[in-house]
Order: sequence, then C-alpha cells, then structure tokens
Amino acid sequence: MAILIDHLELEVEVQDKKVSFESDEVAFGGKPNAGFAMPENNSFGHSFRDYGTESERKKTVEEFYRLSHINQTYDFVKRMMEEYGKLNRVEMSIWECCELLNDVVDDSDPDLDEPQIEHLLQTAEAIRKDYPDEDWLHLTGLIHDLGKVLLLPSFGGLPQWAVVGDTFPIGCAFDDSIVHHKYFADNPDYNNPAYNTKYGVYSEGCGLENVMMSWGHDDYMYLVAKENKTTLPSAAVFIIRYHSFYRNIAYVRSIQTPDERGGCRESEMASHFQVKYDLYSKSKVRIDVEKVKPYYLSLIEKYFPFKLRW
Ligand SMILES: [Fe+2]
Ligand SMILES: [Fe+2]
Repeated sequence: MAILIDHLELEVEVQDKKVSFESDEVAFGGKPNAGFAMPENNSFGHSFRDYGTESERKKTVEEFYRLSHINQTYDFVKRMMEEYGKLNRVEMSIWECCELLNDVVDDSDPDLDEPQIEHLLQTAEAIRKDYPDEDWLHLTGLIHDLGKVLLLPSFGGLPQWAVVGDTFPIGCAFDDSIVHHKYFADNPDYNNPAYNTKYGVYSEGCGLENVMMSWGHDDYMYLVAKENKTTLPSAAVFIIRYHSFYRNIAYVRSIQTPDERGGCRESEMASHFQVKYDLYSKSKVRIDVEKVKPYYLSLIEKYFPFKLRW
C-alpha cells in the first residue's frame, strides 16, 4: 500500500513573509515513484515509519492500528470534541506542557524511542536550521505534539489509539489508502449507510475544516491553540491540526472549498512538515535543552498567553 504525497513546491505568504518549500513526490510503505529516490534513512542515518519490515515494535504498531480502526467512530469523536473542548482540566504554560510530555511514549510510531521533548526540540531545531527567519514555524515544530498529554492520567488517560497515530476523516467511507485498512471492517460505522459512502455526512466542496477527523493529539492541540487565542499564523494552526493526516490528495481536493484550495496552500505545508521534519527529524541526536530553552521561551511569549486553559 502506498500513500502518496504530491510533488510540493510551495510559496506561502504568511504575515507579509514569503516562505518557499520544496519537496518531491514521496511514497510511504510502498515503492517510490519513478524519478525520485526515496531516502531509506533520515539525515542522521536512521530509517523511519518502517511499517513493513520486522522490528520489535511492528506487532505493537499493528495492534495499535487495529484498535484505532475499530474504535474511532463518528459518535466517539463527537463525544471527545465536546468533552475536551471544555478545556477545564488545568491551566499551564506551553513550556510546562513540553516538560509534562517527557514521560510519554508513542506506541503508533515504530521508530521513536526517545522522550517526547527530544522529538519536539529535534523537529523545531531542524526547521530553525532550514528557515532561520520563520520563528513561527520553529514554535510550530516545538508544540505540534503537545496534545499527547491526553495519554496522561490527569488528562483522562486516553488509550494510545485515541491520541496518536495517523488520522483520517470520520463520518464517510474509510479510504483504501489508510494504513492497515482491513481492520475497519469491525468498525460499527463501516456498515452504517449514513457513514459509509464517499462523502457520508458531508458533501463535495463542503470544506476540509468541516470534516471531522479521528480523535487524537492533533485536534486537541488545535483546540487548545485556537481557544487560547494564539497569534500564530493560520498556516501554523493548520499544520498542528493536520500533521498526522496522511492525505489522499484527490479526495481532500474534492472536499475543500475553492478558498481552501487556493489561498496560502496550507495543506501542502502540512504535508511538507510531516515528511521533512516530523518524520525525518526523529534521530538519536541529542539536543541541549537548557541551551535552546531561552529562545523557545521567547517565542512562546510572543505567540501565546502565559497560562493556557487545557
Ligand atoms: Fe504528532
Ligand atoms: Fe511529531
């Protein structure tokens, strides 16, 4: 099975700045298309998202997706959005949340054994190296996974399948390209005629922002950022919301409004973020947290209130 991400060559205008991204067509879990040699390893020499080969974690990952595909239903996601949309659990700063995340391990990822704060800072620093002037993008890298606090007992201790892993649209047919698709056969929505057609409860061109995604850390952090009135540009908020969504590009295009399709092409930015930084930056390279902390604290102060409701 291959999940394709289109050739990306992006120019995005954000807050009067032009940011250019370049990437090539990439295939996950399948053969790269002709003309592009998919790197087997990231820039640190480690392989990534290797669902196909034997690894200690392969079984854990497959079991994870089995549970996710059976339990992520329309009703479940609606309940989660209502419950966590209240943001009535705790008040804390962004940095406090980074530290809180340190004990979390993500079962959906066959490559990642490091504490989460390492992944956050590796992602942010990799972006910073390539785009030194785009401070909003550095901060996006730092905070993109903070929603994983949902795994912690103080946040309801949700199971892994309700927090991490790839996300997919809910309330319409499960796309064939979704990893481990066979397990959807046991999802109650699979045989429900309200939810199992191409557009399900939606309609062509209804707008991606109106499509419910499987519940997880992306949507939760999106809610937190939005409701706490971040001043990050809309591209950053989009990346946070969709960074785990491995899109079927044709389907997403048919769902998007003309405005969403045009504009600042945030969807492509989110793909680029996933491919180049979220996946590639996972490495054993250690980051000196104390050294980079003052820089990130200054960005947090620039784009967020001191305390946020979670
Ligand atoms: Fe993530
Ligand atoms: Fe991540």
